Amino acid sequence: MTIDIYWRIGMEGDHASLRTPRRYNRGHANGYAPGNIAPAIRAGALDGYGYIDHMAAVAKASESAGFLGGLLPSFPVTDDPWAVAAALAGETTTYRFMVAFQPGFLHPVQAARMSASLQRATGGRLVYNIISGGGGPAQLWWGDKVAHDDRYARTSEFLDVLRGVWDGEPYDHEGRFFRTEGAALAPGIAGQPFPEVYFSGSSAAAVHAAGRHADYYLSWLEPFADLRAKFDGVRANAGSIGRTPKFAVRIDVVARHTEEAAWAEIEKGWAFVDRGAAERAAKGDSVGAARIQGWVPETITGYRDLEVQPNVWCGFSLIRGGPAFGLVGSYEQVAQRLDELIDLGVDAFILAGNPHLEEAYRVGEEVLPLLGRSRLTASAAAASPSPAR
Ligand SMILES: Cc1cc2nc3c(=O)[nH]c(=O)nc-3n(C[C@H](O)[C@H](O)[C@H](O)COP(=O)(O)O)c2cc1C
Repeated sequence: MTIDIYWRIGMEGDHASLRTPRRYNRGHANGYAPGNIAPAIRAGALDGYGYIDHMAAVAKASESAGFLGGLLPSFPVTDDPWAVAAALAGETTTYRFMVAFQPGFLHPVQAARMSASLQRATGGRLVYNIISGGGGPAQLWWGDKVAHDDRYARTSEFLDVLRGVWDGEPYDHEGRFFRTEGAALAPGIAGQPFPEVYFSGSSAAAVHAAGRHADYYLSWLEPFADLRAKFDGVRANAGSIGRTPKFAVRIDVVARHTEEAAWAEIEKGWAFVDRGAAERAAKGDSVGAARIQGWVPETITGYRDLEVQPNVWCGFSLIRGGPAFGLVGSYEQVAQRLDELIDLGVDAFILAGNPHLEEAYRVGEEVLPLLGRSRLTASAAAASPSPAR
């Protein structure tokens, strides 16, 4: 069985590490500030190194480190992932670009044409991360007031139309959100491989839409039993219409030579804990965000309170933006937990760490070669220092 392993490209800016306060010192995603390593002031002027150069470095590093591709997230604070994928394709060889986007902010025929062009230009390296939106201020940034469940109806219709025009046959559609007349991709670009669809959302409406459209149902990390139950629900829902999606999990990783060294990173980051940041990020109607935020206790006496099962820590959202859960431990422990997730039914991972550049090498060199090892007998493990994944 092949496990697809992606890295996340930090498009919102990048920290030096969890040990430092929330200071984005890589690239100028958040503007130049004294102390930034890039761009830097040289001979009295900015040296011209842009955030796109930093993202290119992360893409190239993670490609060299063995990752299949990179997730390009989409938020009001990020660059546009489509444009970034196009820019970075030439910097990489086989690396896939998982473009996050919200259906509805693009006409599906235009999305089909952009996708087919990217597929043709990159030799089929586009992957979709379909996001339907978490409500709140981020949704209003796009002027989008469509209600939670209706956003999934819109996503579903969008994907129907996108598939409808893909093969180049004229396609008519008169729906609730979109309409087309004789739409078809031109013969030169029609018929490219259709991008794999990663689909997220934890609400009933999301699970229903994922059943119809997901190649991979994508979740943030949660306690493993919760994840198993969630996947069972998605599997049952998709199964009722004869579909069998695969499963993917996005996970932050702090892996070091020893477990103590990994927790020491968290301890240093804990000095900059920001409870308000997690609450601010939770504004909206995202069922998935509420699920994971619900695990963070009101009263916290120390960072180890947040280890909900061995090596599974739900404090990440308190020391950097983003989801709460990640893995903390030695290289072997993190690989074991990933193996357990594979046993639970996971087919793909999107891993991440701060800083994204150095951690791509670390996780690629130290953790990925250990995958599958926890299933070997002791003698087989000794004979096979680096089992194939
Ligand atoms: C792994 C993962 C990555 C996501 N990436 C993005 C993103 O880049 N931009 C965004 O606006 N929402 C993102 N989301 C949010 C979801 O797509 C979805 O809009 C949100 O969870 C609300 O859905 P729900 O109420 O059904 O849970 C992501 C969710 C997951 C699980």
